[in-house]
Amino acid sequence: MADNDIPFALPYMGTQEEEAVLRVLRSGWLTTGKEALAFEKEFSAFLWGPVRNSPQAELQSFAVNSATSGLHLALEASGIGPGDVVLVPSFTFASTAEVVRYLKADVAFVDTAPGTFHLDPNALERTIDRLSRGLPAYPPRKNSRDTGFGPRGKPKAALPVHYGGLPCDMGRIMEICRRRGVRVIEDAAHAFPSLLGDGRFAGAIGDAGVFSFYATKTITTGEGGMVVTGDPDIAKRISIMRLHGIDRTVWNRYTDNRASWYYEIVEPGYKYNLPDILAAIGRIQLQRAWELFEMRKRIAAQYDEAFRDNPHLTIPPSGAGDARHLYPLGIKSETLTIDRDTFIDKLKEKGIGVSVHFIPLHIMPYYKKCYGLEAEDFPESLKNFKKVISLPIWPGMTSSQVERVIDALGSICGETAR
Ligand SMILES: Cc1ncc(COP(=O)(O)O)c(C=O)c1O
Repeated sequence: MADNDIPFALPYMGTQEEEAVLRVLRSGWLTTGKEALAFEKEFSAFLWGPVRNSPQAELQSFAVNSATSGLHLALEASGIGPGDVVLVPSFTFASTAEVVRYLKADVAFVDTAPGTFHLDPNALERTIDRLSRGLPAYPPRKNSRDTGFGPRGKPKAALPVHYGGLPCDMGRIMEICRRRGVRVIEDAAHAFPSLLGDGRFAGAIGDAGVFSFYATKTITTGEGGMVVTGDPDIAKRISIMRLHGIDRTVWNRYTDNRASWYYEIVEPGYKYNLPDILAAIGRIQLQRAWELFEMRKRIAAQYDEAFRDNPHLTIPPSGAGDARHLYPLGIKSETLTIDRDTFIDKLKEKGIGVSVHFIPLHIMPYYKKCYGLEAEDFPESLKNFKKVISLPIWPGMTSSQVERVIDALGSICGETAR
């Protein structure tokens, strides 16, 4: 990458984060301890304010080493296992579905709602109802005489993804799932902080919600995540399974004077804890969450303004509560002489780093083989994949860097218009 190239993503770290890391290094306690505990409390307090007036029980947060671990823990704690089916959007990252397979449960993909990047609540409802009647997840394909295709089993949970930081229609999703006894685990990897219309936060609505602090995310610890739940049973189980199935934290184990050496293993748990070095970074990033949110908003507004009237481009749907983790721009390649992939190559030649979110999971070899799926089974998800380019959107991006991206797109459209 040349010096003046614009990367796809860049974390926004300052002297406060540096000082926090040094503080932990000098403390002599590098693994999970006081910092992680404080991070969890502060995270709950951040989300808790708007939820306080709802019937939901008090939220508890659990710091983990990735959102993937968090999703695994949340599903495990919700009792998902062999023979169960979990509903997952096909338009998502690997993690959302792989955690279902870790537990030997099955994945039923759900297509995207037309004109959005989100799971279609109508398709969700139809798929749950088919599964509840003992049918395979999807109706027969044209000219087929069988009862349908895809996994069979009890629909136990749904994993809506707040794609790009824009909250899903949680009202509708909760209503569909609650009525049918289906658990809702929100994949809020992209969505911190993302607000629903009623002022509650995405990730704090379902039975559990999971956030990611991966390097490109809205607040970051390099690698890391947080699971949040208002369900005391889920909370209890996560607190045990997160660290080897021991029902107390490492910190307690070494500092509780009464029995510093004693512990009991009650389950074969995992090793998913977040070390204090990372938690300390997370605490500072959390304090700056609204500042970073505003910075992303400013960039997205600049893009929206520039691309809104361009006949070759489609700006992404958004709303006031959108955390703008991604800026997924649609390329109308039918109006151009080049396809989306060539468009990306041209941006790269101009020194602009971009990405594609996502390659749908139902066209991945593993899931195709597992459930006998075809690309056209989830047409909206496929359509999104073929047109979308994620533009750089990171808090430290200057206005002139955003202008450079805008100019690059404008000139490619101009040179290749039909
Ligand atoms: C939708 C979605 N869910 C989950 C994850 C997993 O996050 P992590 O890398 O923290 O495990 C990602 C990662 O990018 C994601 O995009």
